[in-house]
Amino acid sequence: MQSTAQLLRTDRALTASPDEAEMHPHVAEWPWRFEVYHPGLREVLPAVQAWCSAVIRREPPRRWLSLLGPSGVGKTHILKQALSCLRSATARGLWKIPTATGQRSPEMAHLIPAVDLTDFRAPHDYARYDLIYIEDIGSGATLDKGAGAVTRSRVAELLQLRSNKWTLMDANLYRREIEHQLDGRIASRLKRDGSWMVEVPPEVGDYWDR
Ligand SMILES: Nc1ncnc2c1ncn2[C@@H]1O[C@H](COP(=O)(O)OP(=O)(O)OP(=O)(O)O)[C@@H](O)[C@H]1O
Ligand SMILES: [Mg+2]
Repeated sequence: MQSTAQLLRTDRALTASPDEAEMHPHVAEWPWRFEVYHPGLREVLPAVQAWCSAVIRREPPRRWLSLLGPSGVGKTHILKQALSCLRSATARGLWKIPTATGQRSPEMAHLIPAVDLTDFRAPHDYARYDLIYIEDIGSGATLDKGAGAVTRSRVAELLQLRSNKWTLMDANLYRREIEHQLDGRIASRLKRDGSWMVEVPPEVGDYWDR
């Protein structure tokens, strides 16, 4: 049975916006490096921290976190840190996956579609992980027409298979563009069922030009 504190926490997780949700101590202590050099970046770190906290606490239903926006603003920079933070939580035994007979350590993967989804079985393989980070879901768009189309359809297939699983992703595309260039169902899923999506506005320039 859940304690009152657990019930309150679950209830908060369902209703709170990312920056209002209570941070897990492991996440709060993690040495995050993310510079908010433009107001358009304010939402990024709190969203990542709240998502990592929800993962460790296994709070449904916030399963996806997507960071969308211009190049060079720190999307990959921060999501790699999220993976490190969660790997460390696993190593410390703070985050476990319940099984029929007990619990096990979570399995995580970081993939780049144009490199890691070349095999037709890859979407099914990556669907099995407890948590994945798909770096640059729009990357196929820059490839030649044939290879780009295959990569995009594999990204769409993988995301369909991960509808209920912890998934981080970033893209140079906004949700409207994902709808047209990738898949309409994926685009709608980015905001549905409690998924978190942060769109960094186009006027935010590259970190190195700040
Ligand atoms: N907000 C930030 N705070 C600190 N460093 C940053 C930030 N944004 C970018 N950087 C630095 O710039 C580098 C490039 O950023 P990053 O690769 O994360 O950009 P991106 O948003 O993923 O771009 P792309 O869409 O082209 O992949 C990072 O490795 C980091 O050194
Ligand atoms: Mg990137």
